[in-house]
Amino acid sequence: MSNAISPAQIAQIAREFATPCWAYDAQVVRSQIARLRQFDVIRFAQKASSNIHLLKLMREEGVMVDSVSLGEVERALAAGYAPNAQVNGAAHAPIVFTADLLDKNALQRVVELNIPVNCGSPQMLEQLGLAHPGHPVWLRINPGFGHGHSRKTNTGGEQSKHGIWHEYLPQALALIKQYGLQLVGLHMHIGSGVDYAHLQSVCDAMLEQVKLCGSDLQAISIGGGLSIPYQEGEALVDTEHYFQIWDQARQKIEAHLGHKISMEIEPGRFLVAQAGILISELRAQKQVGNNFFAMVDAGFNDLARPAMYGSYHRISTHAPDGSPRTSTARATVVAGPLCESGDVFTQEDGGVVTSQNLPACEIGDLFVFHDTGAYGASMSSNYNSRPLIPEILVDGEQIRQIRRRQTVQELIALEL
Ligand code: LLP
Repeated sequence: MSNAISPAQIAQIAREFATPCWAYDAQVVRSQIARLRQFDVIRFAQKASSNIHLLKLMREEGVMVDSVSLGEVERALAAGYAPNAQVNGAAHAPIVFTADLLDKNALQRVVELNIPVNCGSPQMLEQLGLAHPGHPVWLRINPGFGHGHSRKTNTGGEQSKHGIWHEYLPQALALIKQYGLQLVGLHMHIGSGVDYAHLQSVCDAMLEQVKLCGSDLQAISIGGGLSIPYQEGEALVDTEHYFQIWDQARQKIEAHLGHKISMEIEPGRFLVAQAGILISELRAQKQVGNNFFAMVDAGFNDLARPAMYGSYHRISTHAPDGSPRTSTARATVVAGPLCESGDVFTQEDGGVVTSQNLPACEIGDLFVFHDTGAYGASMSSNYNSRPLIPEILVDGEQIRQIRRRQTVQELIALEL
């Protein structure tokens, strides 16, 4: 579902909360959740967008949550997620902690709250086992291959630090036994932006790994990785087909184990990307040799994806009253205010500057970056001492600020 925040609402948000700022459409999140209802558990990878008001919305829709740091655990708790794995049984725990290492603070907190831990290294099993025998664990397996929209989002194979290498599953199971840990399930997330061909390979790999585990296994998690159409004309993921592929694998797994298992999906991007926009204001324009630059007040400290992966985000341009600019388009390089040449929103992976065809605009116009609800605000930084920007939640007619703008004083205060 595409974003339904209207041009008039975009203008209103810019007026009330100033630019740059994020805005999310709650209805888009709900409709994306609805598309995955066939899975037993939908677990939101909150790293994609971790504002507690979005997490609350997820919780109200029955979505569980995946946390990857102490901070994300605290966010889930603040959003009302129950901490204890026993609430619905470990296989349906509201919060799961996924990582490849356990820092000491996180270790203490997950033990205190009995939050199941998805372990990506043997040391995690040892440290957890020593701290809390009987703790519920998942095993994150690296099946030996991966796939992603960028090299940086491929989480399988020999170049990836993630997961326990598939050949070492027997050793991991031995550690689980040695420390009396409780194995809940197997987890495979091979990357962000996975295609159907790789999906079938993951299903096959999962079945092979399950065969090495005892019959107590309660669940499998197929990770996230579902893509969304960033470019016009790109197809939507066929969630029914996606489910069918996994359901066939599930049936084989259940036949092997002799009992039913719970099947989790762990999307981040799919649930929130299309819900979000970044609203910025045009502050300068200039001709630089053959390139025409439009410079806006948002930088890669706000939206990092183009600079980090060469990601494409469609840009729409609006007059200050929200009405779309429609004059003849010209090739425009869109850049931000940071003191770094890579602060360009139209670029390829590797940093080559590209452009988008945009109408002629005036200073003060609004430049809106689309499909930025995932890995937008959550990847922002304070680079160039720029405060974090507000987040706004739009639900039909209702417009609500769910994070205020950080102040420069707050940044400096940490250093006193
Ligand atoms: N589960 C695990 C264990 C993960 O590591 C991730 C993403 C997900 C689920 C959710 O993946 P998704 O459904 O969102 O593709 N910053 C990059 C994406 C990094 C993804 C990291 N892990 C981007 O902006 O594209």
